[in-house]
Amino acid sequence: MPSLDALPKTIRTEAELDELMACPGAELIETMKRLAGDIAILGIAGKMGLSLGTLAVNAIKAAGLRKQVYGVSRFSDPTAIAALEKAGVVPIRCDLLDRTATSALPKVPNIVFMAGRKFGTVGEEALTWAMNTIVPAHVCEHFSKSRVAAFSTGCVYPLVPTGSIGSVEEDRPDPVGEYAQSCLGRERTFEYFSRINGTPVCLFRLNYSLDLRYGVIHDLARTIWEGRTVNRNVGYFNAIWQGDANSQALRALEVCASPPAVLNITGPEKISVTASAETLGRLLDKPVTFTGAPCATAYLNNASRSHRLFGYPRVPLAQVIDWTAEWIKQGGRSLGKPTHFEVSNGKY
Ligand SMILES: NC(=O)c1ccc[n+]([C@@H]2O[C@H](COP(=O)([O-])OP(=O)(O)OC[C@H]3O[C@@H](n4cnc5c(N)ncnc54)[C@H](OP(=O)(O)O)[C@@H]3O)[C@@H](O)[C@H]2O)c1
Repeated sequence: MPSLDALPKTIRTEAELDELMACPGAELIETMKRLAGDIAILGIAGKMGLSLGTLAVNAIKAAGLRKQVYGVSRFSDPTAIAALEKAGVVPIRCDLLDRTATSALPKVPNIVFMAGRKFGTVGEEALTWAMNTIVPAHVCEHFSKSRVAAFSTGCVYPLVPTGSIGSVEEDRPDPVGEYAQSCLGRERTFEYFSRINGTPVCLFRLNYSLDLRYGVIHDLARTIWEGRTVNRNVGYFNAIWQGDANSQALRALEVCASPPAVLNITGPEKISVTASAETLGRLLDKPVTFTGAPCATAYLNNASRSHRLFGYPRVPLAQVIDWTAEWIKQGGRSLGKPTHFEVSNGKY
């Protein structure tokens, strides 16, 4: 197994990437020793879930424990089932919009909630609201005695001036557009049930996870590699290596409280689109062209609280930029799921 203490210079294959992403740090292994009972990851079949599930299994093994990790999704892509089984995660097919089906899930004490809907919201707003508010209600009803680390998004805050320190957890949410509003609805649903049932919850406000196959750095690198123009209307963003985000999501199970704990989850840098694109251009040996001029505001979250709890991310941003440039040069796979980080009107 690779080590987080000696990061590789390059990552050549998806197997190497997946193995690194699922490599548990010492703190996560200790969390597993303290955490009683099995874990269920709801909405596991997306961009982050398989790597999060594998990380949980590896941390449990490294702690010398026997805990089951369940992975729940509809499995729209059935190949995810075999990948989960190979990783040691027990897949359970369930549509969480179905209250009866949700009530048949095994009642495990630790829940990581990842199911959600973002892209395609414009024109199908009702489905987004149902996914982001009714599903959490089903989950809270069934898992009222569990602790729940619930993925949320930094988009529950408004865009803030790029010269500011970024949104902190005490700031009042003021989401722009129906997707972000429905995400605040998700948070409020978890908060409501946490307050009435005493369910411990952590609202995990994530800003841009970075994988080599998707994420803002991937999007920038691919745009430059293909000779397209980089849109820098939104001039700054925050991001975190997916392995670090996943590790923090599992460690957040220990932070759950009633009423809910709230954590901003991202890296320490305010990343400039212009500067990161120019670095990628150099590494890719390609010219970079821009459109637009950075506007005065952006989604910027201040994650000092989570850094104090969990430490800084183990994989530095500069390393992710190097790895991504190499990945793109070698023709590494893309998930084909652009982040649309350049959107500032909340319309997805
Ligand atoms: N990735 C990021 O950078 C980022 C940033 C901010 C917030 N987040 C939030 O973090 C969470 C995890 O991120 P992600 O990128 O892995 O999300 P994702 O790619 O959208 O994955 C979520 C998965 O949930 C499953 N799902 C959707 N509806 C479901 C239903 N009715 N019943 C059961 N499962 C359902 C889907 O798999 P099936 O189709 O197989 O059911 C989907 O692939 C999401 O809530 C996302 O909004 C992510």
